[in-house]
Amino acid sequence: ATIQAFRETLLAWYDQEKRDLPWRQTKDPYKIWVSEIMLQQTQVNTVIPYYERFIEALPNIQALAEAEEETLLNLWQGLGYYSRVRNMQTAAQQVMGEYGGQLPKTAEALRTLKGIGPYTAGAIASIAFGEPEPAVDGNLMRIVTRLFEIGEDIGKASTKRQITAYLYQMIDPKRPGDFNQALMDLGATIMTPANLTPELSPLKAFDQSYQHGTAELYPVKKSK
Ligand code: ADE
Repeated sequence: ATIQAFRETLLAWYDQEKRDLPWRQTKDPYKIWVSEIMLQQTQVNTVIPYYERFIEALPNIQALAEAEEETLLNLWQGLGYYSRVRNMQTAAQQVMGEYGGQLPKTAEALRTLKGIGPYTAGAIASIAFGEPEPAVDGNLMRIVTRLFEIGEDIGKASTKRQITAYLYQMIDPKRPGDFNQALMDLGATIMTPANLTPELSPLKAFDQSYQHGTAELYPVKKSK
């Protein structure tokens, strides 16, 4: 099976089945950034009303950079992990000072901002700027280890590098943000941790662990 067939199959499924989420109505990098930070430790359905309220109160980077601490904590109340919003404000101030108020477009430059790691940088670069960057989180690691029967511990940096390298090969350079979000949706709804025989997966023909009935073996997580 070719990479082109993989991309077409995944994106055709996404076009039919994608979840209708508020941050999918925009390409504004600031809004994508806010959504991705909220989604890191919080479920989609919980995030939606917080996202709407946050964007209404602080509609752009300058507003976030200048917000009172009390405003931030109020908007974040109930989401937890307050360091996420504190770091976002620090990063917004960095963007005002160092980038003229515009988020930088490359994953590499995004990673220099406080609180933006490889996952968030890849998500913003691909979704908002159309850069062919993977956004590797736990869901994508599960999907890739199952597709290719990668039996190495996903806690190891070398395994994460291997998975990232596969995704750089696979990602559709014409629709990188949709490609990443298609895998996120697939991991959230069909190729879930508990579903070892994902009959509804569009990727069955490309899925080694599905073909071999070995999904239970992936991903490997060695306890530390
Ligand atoms: N989880 C993290 N980022 C997401 C996104 N952009 N869409 C859906 N789920 C997500």
